[in-house]
Amino acid sequence: MVKTKEIFLLGVGHGTPLFIELAEACGYRVVGLYHYNDERTGEVDHGFPILGSFNNLLNSNIKGRNFALTMGNMKIKAVISNLLLNLGALIPTLIHPTAIISRFAKVSNCGVLITSYCEVHSDAEIMDGCVLWPQVIIGHDTKLSEYTFCGPKSYVGAYINVERFAFIGQCSVSISGKVCNIGESAIIGAGSVVTKSVPPKTIVKGNPARILNKN
Ligand SMILES: CC(C)(COP(=O)(O)OP(=O)(O)OC[C@H]1O[C@@H](n2cnc3c(N)ncnc32)[C@H](O)[C@@H]1OP(=O)(O)O)[C@@H](O)C(=O)NCCC(=O)NCCS
Repeated sequence: MVKTKEIFLLGVGHGTPLFIELAEACGYRVVGLYHYNDERTGEVDHGFPILGSFNNLLNSNIKGRNFALTMGNMKIKAVISNLLLNLGALIPTLIHPTAIISRFAKVSNCGVLITSYCEVHSDAEIMDGCVLWPQVIIGHDTKLSEYTFCGPKSYVGAYINVERFAFIGQCSVSISGKVCNIGESAIIGAGSVVTKSVPPKTIVKGNPARILNKN
């Protein structure tokens, strides 16, 4: 008999059902959820029990257990991921079966969440903890550094280096051959058309994307 793999989700928010479905599509049984504090312990969200807080979890024996971190704040995701890994927990990469990943692409096996109908083209690299919401396209030879967030239907063109903690807004397009670098913690506004590199910690928006301010 094949034993079903179990997984626990951290973060209870608007993205929770998306990641429940992702985990299930990857063959996991979702046992329950953990919230950042104790306020919601005992509640049920989308049919799944909220088992406790992150603190409860970090003070229990979690060695060898599977977790998916679903919070939108990627800096928090990075901190909690490191704590879990240091305690011997596992944070598997989850790739939805409808996603198309080139066999020449490289996807980290730690904490990457690739949801339905995404495409990752040849020689692209997706590093630890990156999150791709549905229908994201990552062009060939593009690198997403650790904990990059890509909103739904965003298209990061070819040959772009995206630094860690960048936030790529929904339906934005970063043009291949024009954009070389998207800096650390930069934010691309929804629907933007990015035509040149984006400095770190900068918000850009519009078509063509222009700097809104520094974050
Ligand atoms: C760009 C963004 C971060 C700016 O947010 P903000 O700092 O709160 O900015 P504001 O909403 O105050 O808007 C400031 C100005 O920029 C405009 N603006 C905001 N976002 C814009 C966008 N994506 N494209 C074009 N203009 C935009 C606003 O209309 C406003 O213009 P005004 O001063 O002429 O009225 C935000 O609007 C955005 O696009 N976030 C991405 C959301 C997303 O993709 N989420 C994915 C969830 S899965």
